[in-house]
Amino acid sequence: MKVTDVQLVMSAVSPSQYPTTGYPEIGFLGRSNVGKSSLTNVLIQRKDYAHTSGQPGKTQTLNFYELNHKLYFVDVPGYGYAKVSKQAREKWAEMIETYLTQRSTLAGVVNLIDSRHALSDYDRQMHDWLAYYQIPTLYVATKMDKLAKSKVKAQAKDLQQQLHLTADQSLVMFSAKTKQGAPEIWNWITDQTKN
Ligand code: GTP
Ligand code: MG
Repeated sequence: MKVTDVQLVMSAVSPSQYPTTGYPEIGFLGRSNVGKSSLTNVLIQRKDYAHTSGQPGKTQTLNFYELNHKLYFVDVPGYGYAKVSKQAREKWAEMIETYLTQRSTLAGVVNLIDSRHALSDYDRQMHDWLAYYQIPTLYVATKMDKLAKSKVKAQAKDLQQQLHLTADQSLVMFSAKTKQGAPEIWNWITDQTKN
């Protein structure tokens, strides 16, 4: 989809703040620093609209981006760094769980993992949640430009096995640097959000 109009319409922490226009919505999940904002920018064809940062934990709220007055992308904050207190982590978990379970317009989520590593406990927890709530999910393995070319195929297969992906779930290898994988991700989003 060519994005001709994009607006950050809301930074929300609770359901009363979610937009109410009823457009279908795609959430972007994954631990802090995995590349959610970078992927969002590639998909919306903007350089730094969703702020990226080398500093983990930059995004703390559910950020709703309205695209072409027909679709929302939601940048969901990730945790995963030891600095965060137990209390903050519980609050975060509650915010995410509320969002995933109560948002009726949520058409699917893109769950990001780091292509270079095995799944973390965080990735596994998110995977189990999404399966439990039966939320349509596309897995995206980010930063593939940092992998040796010769390793990409084997690593994709390995991640697919670790995720126990079923036939209707898929994994896309992606790089925000080369934009490889972006068309496949858009195809999936278009499929999920057409009515
Ligand atoms: P939080 O907002 O903290 O949760 O992080 P995030 O998941 O939004 O990550 P962000 O997009 O800010 O990226 C974190 C860092 O990784 C930044 O320095 C990005 O430039 C870098 N990065 C993200 N994607 C890629 C990629 O595909 N390739 C490379 N080489 N670097 C990437
Ligand atoms: Mg971010």
